[in-house]
Amino acid sequence: MCGIVAYVGRKIAQPLLIEGLKRLEYRGYDSAGIAVIDQKGAMHIRRAVGRISVLEDALQRVPTLPDASLGMAHTRWATHGAPTEANAHPHTDDTGRIALVHNGIIENYAALKKFLTNKGHAFSSQTDTEVLAMLIGDLYADMQVKNQVLPGTSLLQQAVQAALHEVDGTYGIAVICKDEPDTLVVARKGSPLIIGVGQEEYIVASDASAIVEHTTQVVYLNDNEMAVLKPGSFRTTTINNITISPVISQLENKLEEYELGDYEHYMLKEIFEQPSAIRNCLRGRAEQKESRIVLGGIVDHTRELVRAKRFILTGQGTAWHAGLVGDYLMEDLAKVTTECTYASEFRYRNPLVEEGTVVVAISQSGETADTLAALREAKEKGALALGIVNVVGSTIARETDGGIYLHAGPEIGVASTKAFTCQCVVLTMLALFLGRRKFMSQSVCHEMIDGLCAVPEQIERVLEQSDHVKQIAREFCDRENWLFLGRGYHFPVALEGALKLKEISYIHSEGMPAAEMKHGPIALINEGMPVVFIATKGSQYDKVISNIEEVRARGGKIIVVATEGDTNIHKYSDHVIEVPHALEPLQPLLSVVPLQLLAYHCAVARDCNVDKPRNLAKSVTVE
Ligand code: M6R
Repeated sequence: MCGIVAYVGRKIAQPLLIEGLKRLEYRGYDSAGIAVIDQKGAMHIRRAVGRISVLEDALQRVPTLPDASLGMAHTRWATHGAPTEANAHPHTDDTGRIALVHNGIIENYAALKKFLTNKGHAFSSQTDTEVLAMLIGDLYADMQVKNQVLPGTSLLQQAVQAALHEVDGTYGIAVICKDEPDTLVVARKGSPLIIGVGQEEYIVASDASAIVEHTTQVVYLNDNEMAVLKPGSFRTTTINNITISPVISQLENKLEEYELGDYEHYMLKEIFEQPSAIRNCLRGRAEQKESRIVLGGIVDHTRELVRAKRFILTGQGTAWHAGLVGDYLMEDLAKVTTECTYASEFRYRNPLVEEGTVVVAISQSGETADTLAALREAKEKGALALGIVNVVGSTIARETDGGIYLHAGPEIGVASTKAFTCQCVVLTMLALFLGRRKFMSQSVCHEMIDGLCAVPEQIERVLEQSDHVKQIAREFCDRENWLFLGRGYHFPVALEGALKLKEISYIHSEGMPAAEMKHGPIALINEGMPVVFIATKGSQYDKVISNIEEVRARGGKIIVVATEGDTNIHKYSDHVIEVPHALEPLQPLLSVVPLQLLAYHCAVARDCNVDKPRNLAKSVTVE
């Protein structure tokens, strides 16, 4: 949720940290701050409420920060305490010796705060993070008095270790201390941290976007691990001080993939990247000639998967919507009992996980706290756990028994777009992989793979209608209530269309099965209310037309996503957006695109911040 970037090396830290923060801003943007320790051992901190640009302005003002080669910065998404300067990170202990940035939640902060207050410490924020900074400072002082430094460690490292043993909750932290002006200590539990390894320098961040410009060599910290970094050397240990040999991995994505290029917003860029993202996702996996699906990341589990009695697909938000499409796909194509459940519900309801259950965690970031917790619960109960994840090396990707990467490239816009279509593509491939090994004929599989491989070019045709969608958006963007309706495979698409609109335009919108409308929501329809139907040619086309009639009769404005060349639909609609014809299981991949564009153009017309909508963060790493 929040973003951390920290640096130790020979360069001047400040510009590098600010650049890193800008790349991390999509993770949280209610306040930001920076701390550096200069060569004389003085700590300098600046914090500001609002976007990184506000912090940048503050840094221009005199006195500016001195040059320093050790520092860290943070962009915040508030959990404990309002977005004020006092609550912004970095936080310090009350001596100002220790500074800390933190992602996650310290659950027992109230008890720790009481304990520290009783010891005479004074707090200046409402955050859980300040409590951790204070605890480290308190332990540091104690250890210093008792002269307790163990050989081969630093006092800061020891104080951090001791503090983390007292803490319940989750953290990704970076800590500096003015008595140790060449040392950066970082640690993680439940909140990602990646160490970028450069030439006598290290840049640590909560995601790769802040690192890739400097190095592609990285070490992913695991839970309960920490690192002590100095210019030219680093040591990784557990928080119990057991040394770990670091595994150096190569970052997959290139710097250009994180850049906005000529687009106005990341969301638009990512909508338009869908054809290439899907091509990458299909590459080497959907073999048209042999009518074969090759999925290297799950092939070792083929036997268990083919024999599985039940699949549980789980995720949150858009990933859950993709899971719902997957639910239809798995039953339709692989003929296996499947359910799609919110990860947040799965984890706490004591779920039944019998023998032969496969749990598939779907997550763009691979860091969503609820999805990760559901995955761990599933593993605990003996399920085979797979992941459908975009971010390589993310926690979910590393904790699953096997999985399928999306290869969609970095998704920066808070509203998920290309991840959704690639998740649906992966789920289609999974269903075909299983279906073909069970009951599916070669010819059906062949037809599906051909259809799948045609999708990128078909999406390109849909994208050509962006201006037409923009006109529709302009006409209706001032309406405060919208409905999105679809049947079968298009029910999850309706949910996704409504989510896109509400999260970036702040318009109230609901998605539901078209048939459900009569059971209550139809009462909402009034003159001029925009109702978006997904009514492509397919098995339920006539039924959807009846639902359109019901809304028209009550004065609703009808916007329809329909199949190219369907002249009949025009007489029922105020506006039609055409998508190419596709096999029914593949239709969501096309019909969702106009809805993404509709949400995007509405948000722009309403002057909303498309890539950084209020109250939201890209990756939700707290429960
Ligand atoms: O990274 P994940 O796919 O696990 O994220 C899940 C949801 O938080 C995410 O899809 C969210 O709903 C998006 N903002 C939707 O656009």
